[in-house]
Amino acid sequence: MALLEVNNISVYYGMIQALKGITFHVEKGEIVALIGANGAGKTTTLHTVSGLLQPKSGEVRYKDVDITKIPGHRIVSMGMAHVPEGRRVFPDLTVEQNLRLGAYTRKDKAEIESTLETVYQRFPRLKERTRQVAGTLSGGEQQMLAMGRALMSHPDIILMDEPSMGLSPLLVGEIFDIIEAVHEDGVTVLLVEQNAKKALAIANRAYVLETGRITMEGTGRELLDNDDIRRAYLGDA
Ligand SMILES: Nc1ncnc2c1ncn2[C@@H]1O[C@H](COP(=O)(O)OP(=O)(O)OP(=O)(O)O)[C@@H](O)[C@H]1O
Ligand SMILES: [Mg+2]
Repeated sequence: MALLEVNNISVYYGMIQALKGITFHVEKGEIVALIGANGAGKTTTLHTVSGLLQPKSGEVRYKDVDITKIPGHRIVSMGMAHVPEGRRVFPDLTVEQNLRLGAYTRKDKAEIESTLETVYQRFPRLKERTRQVAGTLSGGEQQMLAMGRALMSHPDIILMDEPSMGLSPLLVGEIFDIIEAVHEDGVTVLLVEQNAKKALAIANRAYVLETGRITMEGTGRELLDNDDIRRAYLGDA
Protein backbone atom coordinates (compact mmCIF):
# COMPACT_ATOMS: atom_id res chain seq x y z
CA MET A 1 0.00 0.00 0.00
CA ALA A 2 1.38 3.39 -1.00
CA LEU A 3 1.32 6.21 1.56
CA LEU A 4 -0.32 8.46 -1.02
CA GLU A 5 -2.26 7.32 -4.07
CA VAL A 6 -3.71 9.69 -6.62
CA ASN A 7 -6.08 7.90 -8.98
CA ASN A 8 -7.14 9.50 -12.25
CA ILE A 9 -8.00 12.96 -10.90
CA SER A 10 -9.49 15.62 -13.12
CA VAL A 11 -9.65 19.18 -11.84
CA TYR A 12 -11.40 22.17 -13.39
CA TYR A 13 -11.29 25.91 -12.80
CA GLY A 14 -14.71 26.80 -14.14
CA MET A 15 -14.74 25.54 -17.71
CA ILE A 16 -10.98 25.11 -17.90
CA GLN A 17 -9.62 21.66 -17.22
CA ALA A 18 -6.30 21.98 -15.39
CA LEU A 19 -5.73 18.27 -14.63
CA LYS A 20 -6.76 15.66 -17.19
CA GLY A 21 -6.74 12.39 -15.31
CA ILE A 22 -3.58 12.22 -13.26
CA THR A 23 -2.41 9.04 -11.55
CA PHE A 24 0.66 8.71 -9.36
CA HIS A 25 1.73 7.39 -6.01
CA VAL A 26 4.22 8.08 -3.25
CA GLU A 27 5.60 5.28 -1.11
CA LYS A 28 6.45 5.82 2.53
CA GLY A 29 10.04 7.06 2.83
CA GLU A 30 10.38 8.31 -0.74
CA ILE A 31 11.19 11.67 -2.20
CA VAL A 32 8.98 11.98 -5.26
CA ALA A 33 9.39 14.96 -7.58
CA LEU A 34 6.79 16.46 -9.91
CA ILE A 35 8.39 18.53 -12.62
CA GLY A 36 6.86 20.48 -15.48
CA ALA A 37 6.70 23.84 -17.19
CA ASN A 38 4.73 26.87 -15.99
CA GLY A 39 1.03 26.14 -16.04
CA ALA A 40 1.45 22.37 -16.32
CA GLY A 41 -0.70 21.80 -13.23
CA LYS A 42 1.84 21.18 -10.49
CA THR A 43 0.34 23.55 -7.93
CA THR A 44 -3.15 22.37 -8.82
CA THR A 45 -2.03 18.80 -8.12
CA LEU A 46 -0.67 19.67 -4.68
CA HIS A 47 -3.78 21.69 -3.82
CA THR A 48 -5.97 18.74 -4.75
CA VAL A 49 -3.90 16.31 -2.70
CA SER A 50 -4.00 18.50 0.41
CA GLY A 51 -7.73 19.17 0.18
CA LEU A 52 -7.66 22.82 -0.91
CA LEU A 53 -9.28 21.87 -4.22
CA GLN A 54 -11.71 19.10 -5.07
CA PRO A 55 -11.36 17.02 -8.20
CA LYS A 56 -14.37 16.63 -10.47
CA SER A 57 -13.53 12.96 -10.74
CA GLY A 58 -10.92 10.59 -9.44
CA GLU A 59 -9.72 9.81 -5.96
CA VAL A 60 -6.98 10.77 -3.52
CA ARG A 61 -6.06 8.09 -0.97
CA TYR A 62 -3.77 8.71 1.99
CA LYS A 63 -2.84 6.02 4.52
CA ASP A 64 -5.40 3.87 2.73
CA VAL A 65 -8.23 6.33 3.46
CA ASP A 66 -10.19 8.10 0.73
CA ILE A 67 -9.45 11.76 1.54
CA THR A 68 -10.92 13.21 -1.66
CA LYS A 69 -13.75 14.95 0.17
CA ILE A 70 -12.04 15.54 3.50
CA PRO A 71 -11.35 19.23 4.29
CA GLY A 72 -7.75 20.46 4.39
CA HIS A 73 -7.47 21.01 8.15
CA ARG A 74 -8.49 17.42 8.83
CA ILE A 75 -5.94 16.18 6.33
CA VAL A 76 -3.28 18.15 8.22
CA SER A 77 -4.22 16.35 11.41
CA MET A 78 -3.80 13.05 9.54
CA GLY A 79 -0.13 13.93 9.11
CA MET A 80 0.08 15.76 5.80
CA ALA A 81 1.71 19.20 5.62
CA HIS A 82 1.82 21.56 2.65
CA VAL A 83 4.41 24.28 2.08
CA PRO A 84 2.63 26.51 -0.42
CA GLU A 85 4.06 28.19 -3.50
CA GLY A 86 5.33 31.67 -2.70
CA ARG A 87 5.89 30.80 1.01
CA ARG A 88 2.82 32.69 2.36
CA VAL A 89 4.04 33.33 5.86
CA PHE A 90 2.01 35.74 7.99
CA PRO A 91 4.05 38.92 7.49
CA ASP A 92 2.89 40.79 10.61
CA LEU A 93 3.44 37.87 12.99
CA THR A 94 6.82 36.96 14.47
CA VAL A 95 8.82 33.94 13.43
CA GLU A 96 7.76 32.09 16.54
CA GLN A 97 4.08 32.99 16.16
CA ASN A 98 4.19 31.70 12.59
CA LEU A 99 5.79 28.46 13.74
CA ARG A 100 3.26 27.93 16.52
CA LEU A 101 0.41 28.36 14.05
CA GLY A 102 1.79 25.33 12.21
CA ALA A 103 0.89 23.24 15.26
CA TYR A 104 -2.75 24.34 15.28
CA THR A 105 -4.09 20.82 14.87
CA ARG A 106 -2.05 19.46 17.83
CA LYS A 107 -3.08 19.47 21.46
CA ASP A 108 -0.18 18.16 23.55
CA LYS A 109 1.70 21.26 24.72
CA ALA A 110 4.88 19.44 25.72
CA GLU A 111 5.08 17.75 22.32
CA ILE A 112 4.61 21.09 20.56
CA GLU A 113 7.48 22.61 22.58
CA SER A 114 9.69 19.67 21.72
CA THR A 115 8.89 19.98 17.99
CA LEU A 116 9.63 23.71 18.19
CA GLU A 117 13.08 22.91 19.59
CA THR A 118 13.68 20.41 16.78
CA VAL A 119 12.65 22.98 14.18
CA TYR A 120 15.01 25.56 15.70
CA GLN A 121 17.82 23.01 15.57
CA ARG A 122 17.07 22.37 11.91
CA PHE A 123 16.87 26.11 11.15
CA PRO A 124 19.37 28.00 13.33
CA ARG A 125 18.63 31.17 11.33
CA LEU A 126 15.05 31.08 12.60
CA LYS A 127 16.20 30.58 16.16
CA GLU A 128 18.26 33.79 15.87
CA ARG A 129 15.12 35.61 14.74
CA THR A 130 12.31 34.29 16.95
CA ARG A 131 10.85 37.76 17.58
CA GLN A 132 11.45 39.26 14.14
CA VAL A 133 8.26 39.86 12.15
CA ALA A 134 8.13 37.45 9.22
CA GLY A 135 7.56 40.17 6.61
CA THR A 136 11.08 41.48 7.21
CA LEU A 137 12.80 38.10 6.67
CA SER A 138 14.80 37.53 3.50
CA GLY A 139 13.29 35.29 0.82
CA GLY A 140 15.40 32.34 1.91
CA GLU A 141 14.51 32.85 5.54
CA GLN A 142 10.81 33.05 4.66
CA GLN A 143 11.15 29.74 2.81
CA MET A 144 12.77 28.22 5.90
CA LEU A 145 9.95 29.61 8.03
CA ALA A 146 7.32 28.13 5.72
CA MET A 147 9.07 24.75 5.90
CA GLY A 148 9.49 25.04 9.67
CA ARG A 149 5.83 25.89 10.06
CA ALA A 150 4.86 22.80 8.08
CA LEU A 151 7.12 20.65 10.24
CA MET A 152 5.36 21.98 13.36
CA SER A 153 2.38 19.78 12.48
CA HIS A 154 4.72 16.77 12.86
CA PRO A 155 3.88 15.43 9.40
CA ASP A 156 4.44 12.00 7.91
CA ILE A 157 4.46 13.53 4.44
CA ILE A 158 5.33 17.05 3.38
CA LEU A 159 4.24 18.61 0.08
CA MET A 160 6.54 21.38 -1.11
CA ASP A 161 5.68 23.75 -3.93
CA GLU A 162 8.75 25.35 -5.59
CA PRO A 163 10.81 25.78 -2.43
CA SER A 164 13.82 27.10 -4.37
CA MET A 165 11.92 29.72 -6.36
CA GLY A 166 13.61 33.11 -6.46
CA LEU A 167 16.56 32.14 -4.27
CA SER A 168 20.26 32.64 -4.96
CA PRO A 169 22.24 29.53 -6.00
CA LEU A 170 23.82 29.33 -2.56
CA LEU A 171 20.47 29.39 -0.81
CA VAL A 172 18.99 26.93 -3.31
CA GLY A 173 21.71 24.51 -2.23
CA GLU A 174 20.91 25.15 1.41
CA ILE A 175 17.17 24.56 0.89
CA PHE A 176 17.83 21.28 -0.94
CA ASP A 177 20.16 20.18 1.88
CA ILE A 178 17.36 20.87 4.34
CA ILE A 179 14.87 18.87 2.24
CA GLU A 180 17.25 15.92 2.31
CA ALA A 181 17.77 16.29 6.06
CA VAL A 182 14.02 16.41 6.70
CA HIS A 183 13.69 13.29 4.56
CA GLU A 184 16.43 11.55 6.54
CA ASP A 185 14.47 12.35 9.70
CA GLY A 186 11.78 10.06 8.30
CA VAL A 187 9.43 12.45 6.51
CA THR A 188 8.17 11.40 3.07
CA VAL A 189 8.46 14.22 0.52
CA LEU A 190 6.39 15.19 -2.52
CA LEU A 191 8.37 17.95 -4.20
CA VAL A 192 7.27 20.28 -6.98
CA GLU A 193 10.16 22.12 -8.61
CA GLN A 194 11.11 24.20 -11.60
CA ASN A 195 14.71 23.43 -10.72
CA ALA A 196 14.39 20.02 -12.33
CA LYS A 197 18.08 19.21 -12.17
CA LYS A 198 18.31 19.54 -8.41
CA ALA A 199 14.91 17.94 -7.82
CA LEU A 200 15.74 14.88 -9.93
CA ALA A 201 19.11 14.60 -8.22
CA ILE A 202 17.50 14.03 -4.81
CA ALA A 203 14.32 12.25 -5.92
CA ASN A 204 13.85 8.50 -5.71
CA ARG A 205 11.23 8.78 -8.43
CA ALA A 206 9.72 11.57 -10.48
CA TYR A 207 6.81 12.36 -12.77
CA VAL A 208 6.71 14.85 -15.64
CA LEU A 209 3.56 16.90 -15.95
CA GLU A 210 2.61 18.51 -19.28
CA THR A 211 -0.58 20.54 -19.65
CA GLY A 212 -2.49 18.53 -17.08
CA ARG A 213 -1.20 15.07 -17.99
CA ILE A 214 1.63 12.89 -16.74
CA THR A 215 3.80 12.18 -19.75
CA MET A 216 6.75 10.42 -18.22
CA GLU A 217 7.87 8.75 -15.03
CA GLY A 218 10.99 7.07 -13.78
CA THR A 219 13.68 7.17 -11.16
CA GLY A 220 15.40 10.50 -10.67
CA ARG A 221 18.46 9.06 -12.37
CA GLU A 222 16.51 7.77 -15.40
CA LEU A 223 14.92 11.14 -16.00
CA LEU A 224 18.21 13.00 -15.52
CA ASP A 225 19.74 10.78 -18.20
CA ASN A 226 16.79 11.05 -20.60
CA ASP A 227 17.54 13.12 -23.71
CA ASP A 228 14.02 14.59 -24.02
CA ILE A 229 14.08 15.66 -20.38
CA ARG A 230 17.55 17.10 -20.76
CA ARG A 231 16.43 19.23 -23.69
CA ALA A 232 13.08 20.31 -22.27
CA TYR A 233 13.81 20.79 -18.59
CA LEU A 234 17.52 20.75 -17.92
CA GLY A 235 18.54 23.36 -20.44
CA ASP A 236 20.88 21.01 -22.31
CA ALA A 237 21.28 21.39 -26.06
N1 LIG B 1 -7.60 29.91 -9.72
C1 LIG B 1 -7.50 29.62 -11.02
N2 LIG B 1 -8.47 29.97 -11.90
C2 LIG B 1 -8.37 29.65 -13.20
N3 LIG B 1 -7.36 28.97 -13.75
C3 LIG B 1 -6.36 28.60 -12.93
C4 LIG B 1 -6.37 28.91 -11.53
N4 LIG B 1 -5.24 28.41 -10.99
C5 LIG B 1 -4.56 27.85 -11.99
N5 LIG B 1 -5.22 27.95 -13.16
C6 LIG B 1 -4.79 27.41 -14.46
O1 LIG B 1 -4.56 26.02 -14.33
C7 LIG B 1 -3.40 25.61 -15.04
C8 LIG B 1 -2.41 24.95 -14.08
O2 LIG B 1 -1.95 25.91 -13.14
P1 LIG B 1 -0.96 25.54 -11.96
O3 LIG B 1 -0.84 26.74 -11.09
O4 LIG B 1 -1.38 24.27 -11.34
O5 LIG B 1 0.40 25.31 -12.76
P2 LIG B 1 1.89 25.09 -12.24
O6 LIG B 1 2.41 23.88 -12.92
O7 LIG B 1 1.92 25.12 -10.76
O8 LIG B 1 2.62 26.37 -12.84
P3 LIG B 1 3.84 27.26 -12.25
O9 LIG B 1 5.09 26.51 -12.56
O10 LIG B 1 3.76 28.54 -13.03
O11 LIG B 1 3.62 27.44 -10.78
C9 LIG B 1 -2.86 26.89 -15.68
O12 LIG B 1 -3.30 26.93 -17.01
C10 LIG B 1 -3.47 28.01 -14.87
O13 LIG B 1 -3.65 29.17 -15.63
MG1 LIG C 1 2.80 26.35 -9.42
